[in-house]
Amino acid sequence: MTSLHGKKIILGVSGSIAAYKAAVLLRLLMKEGCEVRVIMTHSAKDFVSPLTFSTLSHHPVASDVHQDEEWTNHVEWGLWADAMVIAPATAHTIARCACGLASDMLTATYLSARCPVFFAPAMDLDMWQHPSTKENISKLQSYGNFILDVGNGELASGLIGPGRLAEPEEIKDFLSDFFRIQQDFKDTSILVNAGPTYEAIDPVRYIGNHSTGKMGVAIAEEFSNRGAEVTLVLGPESVLPKDDRITVLHVTSADDMLETCLQVFEKTDVAILAAAVADYKPAQIANEKIKKDNQKLSLELVRTPDIAASIGKIKKAGQILVGFALETNNGREHALQKMVKKHMDMIVLNNPRDAGAGFGHDTNKVTFLFPNNKEQHFELKSKQKVAFDIAEAVHKMIKENAKN
Ligand code: C5P
Repeated sequence: MTSLHGKKIILGVSGSIAAYKAAVLLRLLMKEGCEVRVIMTHSAKDFVSPLTFSTLSHHPVASDVHQDEEWTNHVEWGLWADAMVIAPATAHTIARCACGLASDMLTATYLSARCPVFFAPAMDLDMWQHPSTKENISKLQSYGNFILDVGNGELASGLIGPGRLAEPEEIKDFLSDFFRIQQDFKDTSILVNAGPTYEAIDPVRYIGNHSTGKMGVAIAEEFSNRGAEVTLVLGPESVLPKDDRITVLHVTSADDMLETCLQVFEKTDVAILAAAVADYKPAQIANEKIKKDNQKLSLELVRTPDIAASIGKIKKAGQILVGFALETNNGREHALQKMVKKHMDMIVLNNPRDAGAGFGHDTNKVTFLFPNNKEQHFELKSKQKVAFDIAEAVHKMIKENAKN
């Protein structure tokens, strides 16, 4: 049984030559055990008969909010559904939804829906690339709707390019993944550390680094969205998570971070250590602000504690430890050594010299290394998508641990 089994889905079909693919999607959803109600716009009916959809869904198709003195309750439909998927979504229907128009059953239901809404656009390439469409798409995304990628290829006009409706199988898989990942870390506790540490020199100065905590915050948000109980141990001046279900514990130095992480780790299933912990701290913190009386000033530095290594030492069977390695040369070898030395189950390697990777960027380019010599290489992508890949890898490890 897949995650789609028993889900209540509204399938909105708008007027595109690709409307016939919505019938294939409907069959796939019904096969997965979904209950589907179909709404067609008037122009969709010029492409496929409502009879096709009513027969396949075993339910009458709706188009108007009221017809022949009968009223179809769009509010009830909107509340009934676990998801609404609009496929194909034409430029016109996308624009109507983005503007909040409620001129027919599809748009009125969209406005009433409390469930997640997925748009699978289909249009000609110039329409897809038009600034109006682009703006409408970003508006819909900013409202929390999901936009599926369009396919690239031959279009009904004969032009070749982006704008094709995603294949029905892809749309079904997208929905299925959405439901699967919603709660796949329910009952799992996750510790994430992120951001820099500041090592005090005197009451006003410190040694720090350029970490912003973006990667770790994205990881904390990803796991929280998937049902985990997340504690984020966060270094100073870092970005903050938007998700208030995440417990944030603020720390300043490597010593503070170690103490807090050790306390949290005891009750944790998975630790993901993304913090850029300072490697050295001043041997002594001056009690007063150091005066600039001398031409030269030497600071004696000593090693900070290694948080990952300390956690690796106390890790019990079943607990999972994931670390990061930021390397500029011989990355793979150094990362592998760290992973073994610190008893990690996976290390995420990145190189700040790769364009768009490392501190401060919204993107990252990573490789996952595992103790069994397996590797996974990824393209440059948003830190949110890297966080998704990390969660997928952790999910796999938890499943494998449960088998053994
Ligand atoms: O600094 P290094 O490259 O060894 O970092 C690898 C991993 O170890 C990272 O996950 C980092 O958060 C962690 N680390 C740590 N404490 C340190 C140094 C690094 O937990 N003092």
